[in-house]
Amino acid sequence: MRKRLALFGSGRGSNGEALYRAIQHNRIQGDIVLIISDIPSSGIVEKGYSWQIPVHVVDPTNYGNEEVWTQAMLDLLEDYKVDGILLAGYMRMLPPTFVQVYRGKILNIHPSLLPAFVGLQAQKQALVKGVKYTGCTVHFVDEGMDTGPIIAQAVVPVYEDDTVDTLSTRILHEEHRIYPEAVGLFCDDALEIVGTRVLTGKQAVRK
Ligand code: GAR
Repeated sequence: MRKRLALFGSGRGSNGEALYRAIQHNRIQGDIVLIISDIPSSGIVEKGYSWQIPVHVVDPTNYGNEEVWTQAMLDLLEDYKVDGILLAGYMRMLPPTFVQVYRGKILNIHPSLLPAFVGLQAQKQALVKGVKYTGCTVHFVDEGMDTGPIIAQAVVPVYEDDTVDTLSTRILHEEHRIYPEAVGLFCDDALEIVGTRVLTGKQAVRK
Protein backbone atom coordinates (compact mmCIF):
# COMPACT_ATOMS: atom_id res chain seq x y z
CA MET A 1 0.00 0.00 0.00
CA ARG A 2 1.26 3.49 -0.81
CA LYS A 3 2.56 5.39 2.21
CA ARG A 4 1.12 8.71 3.27
CA LEU A 5 4.05 11.07 3.81
CA ALA A 6 4.43 14.39 5.62
CA LEU A 7 7.20 16.69 4.44
CA PHE A 8 8.78 19.03 7.00
CA GLY A 9 10.93 21.94 5.79
CA SER A 10 12.20 25.36 6.82
CA GLY A 11 13.92 26.64 3.69
CA ARG A 12 14.30 26.60 -0.05
CA GLY A 13 12.77 23.15 -0.51
CA SER A 14 15.05 21.62 -3.14
CA ASN A 15 15.07 18.23 -1.40
CA GLY A 16 11.31 18.43 -1.06
CA GLU A 17 11.16 19.04 -4.79
CA ALA A 18 13.46 16.09 -5.54
CA LEU A 19 11.12 13.87 -3.50
CA TYR A 20 8.04 15.30 -5.19
CA ARG A 21 9.52 14.65 -8.65
CA ALA A 22 10.54 11.11 -7.71
CA ILE A 23 6.95 10.43 -6.64
CA GLN A 24 5.68 11.85 -9.92
CA HIS A 25 8.02 9.53 -11.79
CA ASN A 26 6.76 6.57 -9.79
CA ARG A 27 10.10 5.96 -8.09
CA ILE A 28 8.51 6.21 -4.63
CA GLN A 29 5.42 4.25 -3.69
CA GLY A 30 4.03 7.01 -1.50
CA ASP A 31 2.44 10.44 -1.61
CA ILE A 32 3.14 13.71 0.15
CA VAL A 33 -0.20 14.40 1.81
CA LEU A 34 0.89 17.25 4.07
CA ILE A 35 3.64 19.86 4.30
CA ILE A 36 4.61 21.35 7.65
CA SER A 37 6.92 24.36 7.90
CA ASP A 38 7.96 26.62 10.75
CA ILE A 39 8.72 29.49 8.33
CA PRO A 40 5.73 31.01 6.48
CA SER A 41 7.92 32.70 3.84
CA SER A 42 9.97 29.58 3.03
CA GLY A 43 10.37 28.12 -0.43
CA ILE A 44 8.89 24.80 0.64
CA VAL A 45 5.64 26.57 1.59
CA GLU A 46 5.48 28.20 -1.86
CA LYS A 47 6.19 24.90 -3.55
CA GLY A 48 3.51 23.14 -1.51
CA TYR A 49 0.91 25.65 -2.69
CA SER A 50 2.00 25.24 -6.31
CA TRP A 51 1.75 21.43 -5.98
CA GLN A 52 -1.69 21.82 -4.38
CA ILE A 53 -0.63 19.87 -1.33
CA PRO A 54 -2.04 21.02 2.06
CA VAL A 55 0.49 23.26 3.83
CA HIS A 56 0.42 24.01 7.54
CA VAL A 57 2.73 26.57 9.13
CA VAL A 58 3.46 25.37 12.63
CA ASP A 59 5.75 27.90 14.28
CA PRO A 60 6.63 26.76 17.81
CA THR A 61 6.84 30.35 19.00
CA ASN A 62 3.08 30.61 18.46
CA TYR A 63 2.43 27.87 21.00
CA GLY A 64 2.65 28.33 24.75
CA ASN A 65 5.18 25.59 25.38
CA GLU A 66 6.82 22.53 23.84
CA GLU A 67 4.03 20.21 24.90
CA VAL A 68 1.34 22.26 23.14
CA TRP A 69 3.49 22.60 20.02
CA THR A 70 4.17 18.84 19.98
CA GLN A 71 0.48 18.02 20.35
CA ALA A 72 -0.44 20.41 17.53
CA MET A 73 1.93 18.56 15.18
CA LEU A 74 0.77 15.12 16.37
CA ASP A 75 -2.87 16.11 15.84
CA LEU A 76 -2.15 17.22 12.27
CA LEU A 77 -0.29 14.00 11.47
CA GLU A 78 -3.16 11.97 12.82
CA ASP A 79 -5.73 14.01 10.88
CA TYR A 80 -3.85 13.24 7.67
CA LYS A 81 -3.22 9.60 8.66
CA VAL A 82 0.51 9.97 8.07
CA ASP A 83 2.70 6.83 7.86
CA GLY A 84 6.07 8.53 7.46
CA ILE A 85 7.73 11.91 8.05
CA LEU A 86 10.44 13.31 5.76
CA LEU A 87 12.57 16.11 7.15
CA ALA A 88 13.95 18.07 4.19
CA GLY A 89 15.86 21.09 5.40
CA TYR A 90 13.84 21.25 8.61
CA MET A 91 16.05 23.24 10.97
CA ARG A 92 14.55 22.36 14.37
CA MET A 93 15.07 19.50 16.77
CA LEU A 94 11.84 17.54 17.15
CA PRO A 95 10.79 17.06 20.80
CA PRO A 96 11.55 13.60 22.27
CA THR A 97 7.83 12.93 22.91
CA PHE A 98 7.20 13.50 19.20
CA VAL A 99 10.06 11.22 18.13
CA GLN A 100 8.80 8.47 20.43
CA VAL A 101 5.41 8.36 18.68
CA TYR A 102 6.94 8.09 15.18
CA ARG A 103 10.13 6.15 15.98
CA GLY A 104 11.44 4.41 12.87
CA LYS A 105 9.16 6.51 10.67
CA ILE A 106 11.03 9.84 10.58
CA LEU A 107 13.79 10.30 7.98
CA ASN A 108 16.23 13.19 7.68
CA ILE A 109 18.83 14.33 5.16
CA HIS A 110 21.99 15.91 6.55
CA PRO A 111 24.80 17.54 4.53
CA SER A 112 27.77 15.64 6.00
CA LEU A 113 29.02 12.10 6.42
CA LEU A 114 27.56 11.47 9.85
CA PRO A 115 28.65 11.08 12.58
CA ALA A 116 30.94 13.94 11.48
CA PHE A 117 29.71 17.53 11.57
CA VAL A 118 26.32 17.36 13.26
CA GLY A 119 24.03 20.37 13.65
CA LEU A 120 24.02 23.54 11.64
CA GLN A 121 26.45 24.64 8.91
CA ALA A 122 27.84 21.15 8.33
CA GLN A 123 29.49 22.24 5.07
CA LYS A 124 31.33 25.09 6.81
CA GLN A 125 32.41 22.72 9.57
CA ALA A 126 33.91 20.41 6.93
CA LEU A 127 35.84 23.26 5.29
CA VAL A 128 37.16 24.52 8.63
CA LYS A 129 38.29 21.03 9.62
CA GLY A 130 40.06 20.58 6.31
CA VAL A 131 38.63 17.15 5.46
CA LYS A 132 39.33 15.93 1.93
CA TYR A 133 35.98 14.23 1.53
CA THR A 134 32.55 14.96 2.93
CA GLY A 135 29.06 14.18 1.69
CA CYS A 136 25.52 13.61 2.86
CA THR A 137 23.58 11.14 4.97
CA VAL A 138 19.99 9.95 5.12
CA HIS A 139 19.14 8.63 8.56
CA PHE A 140 16.28 7.77 10.84
CA VAL A 141 15.67 10.41 13.48
CA ASP A 142 16.10 9.60 17.15
CA GLU A 143 16.15 11.89 20.19
CA GLY A 144 19.73 13.06 19.54
CA MET A 145 21.05 15.66 17.12
CA ASP A 146 21.70 13.85 13.82
CA THR A 147 22.46 10.61 15.68
CA GLY A 148 19.86 8.14 14.40
CA PRO A 149 20.51 4.94 12.41
CA ILE A 150 22.09 5.62 9.00
CA ILE A 151 20.20 4.54 5.88
CA ALA A 152 22.34 5.89 3.02
CA GLN A 153 25.39 8.05 2.41
CA ALA A 154 27.17 9.62 -0.55
CA VAL A 155 30.71 10.97 -0.64
CA VAL A 156 31.94 14.09 -2.42
CA PRO A 157 35.50 15.48 -2.65
CA VAL A 158 36.45 18.78 -1.02
CA TYR A 159 38.65 20.96 -3.25
CA GLU A 160 41.19 23.46 -2.00
CA ASP A 161 39.40 26.41 -3.61
CA ASP A 162 35.94 25.39 -2.36
CA THR A 163 33.68 27.91 -0.68
CA VAL A 164 30.66 26.99 1.44
CA ASP A 165 28.55 27.64 -1.66
CA THR A 166 30.51 25.47 -4.10
CA LEU A 167 30.77 22.63 -1.59
CA SER A 168 27.08 22.87 -0.66
CA THR A 169 26.10 22.69 -4.34
CA ARG A 170 28.21 19.54 -4.86
CA ILE A 171 26.69 17.91 -1.78
CA LEU A 172 23.16 18.98 -2.70
CA HIS A 173 23.45 17.19 -6.04
CA GLU A 174 24.04 13.94 -4.11
CA GLU A 175 21.30 14.74 -1.59
CA HIS A 176 18.79 14.93 -4.44
CA ARG A 177 19.92 11.48 -5.58
CA ILE A 178 20.12 9.52 -2.31
CA TYR A 179 17.12 10.97 -0.46
CA PRO A 180 14.53 9.80 -3.02
CA GLU A 181 16.29 6.41 -3.19
CA ALA A 182 16.13 6.01 0.59
CA VAL A 183 12.50 7.14 0.76
CA GLY A 184 11.72 4.64 -2.00
CA LEU A 185 13.15 1.84 0.15
CA PHE A 186 11.25 3.11 3.19
CA CYS A 187 7.97 3.07 1.25
CA ASP A 188 8.73 -0.45 0.04
CA ASP A 189 9.22 -1.52 3.69
CA ALA A 190 12.74 -2.51 2.69
CA LEU A 191 14.54 -0.89 5.64
CA GLU A 192 15.13 -2.93 8.78
CA ILE A 193 16.49 -1.24 11.89
CA VAL A 194 18.69 -3.64 13.83
CA GLY A 195 20.06 -1.93 16.91
CA THR A 196 21.99 1.09 15.70
CA ARG A 197 22.19 -0.17 12.10
CA VAL A 198 19.84 -0.17 9.14
CA LEU A 199 19.81 -3.17 6.82
CA THR A 200 18.58 -2.54 3.30
CA GLY A 201 19.20 -5.92 1.78
CA LYS A 202 21.51 -4.15 -0.70
CA GLN A 203 25.11 -5.33 -0.29
CA ALA A 204 27.82 -2.73 -0.54
CA VAL A 205 30.31 -3.63 -3.30
CA ARG A 206 33.16 -5.69 -1.83
CA LYS A 207 36.63 -5.14 -3.27
C1 GAR B 1 20.12 20.71 2.68
O1 GAR B 1 21.48 20.83 2.37
C2 GAR B 1 19.93 19.78 3.86
O2 GAR B 1 20.80 18.69 3.86
C3 GAR B 1 20.22 20.69 5.02
O3 GAR B 1 19.62 21.92 4.66
C4 GAR B 1 19.58 22.03 3.24
C5 GAR B 1 18.14 22.26 2.85
O4 GAR B 1 18.03 22.56 1.49
N1 GAR B 1 19.72 20.19 6.24
C6 GAR B 1 20.32 20.37 7.40
O5 GAR B 1 21.35 21.00 7.55
C7 GAR B 1 19.61 19.72 8.58
N2 GAR B 1 20.40 19.82 9.75
P1 GAR B 1 16.62 22.45 0.76
O6 GAR B 1 15.63 23.28 1.58
O7 GAR B 1 16.88 23.05 -0.59
O8 GAR B 1 16.25 21.01 0.68
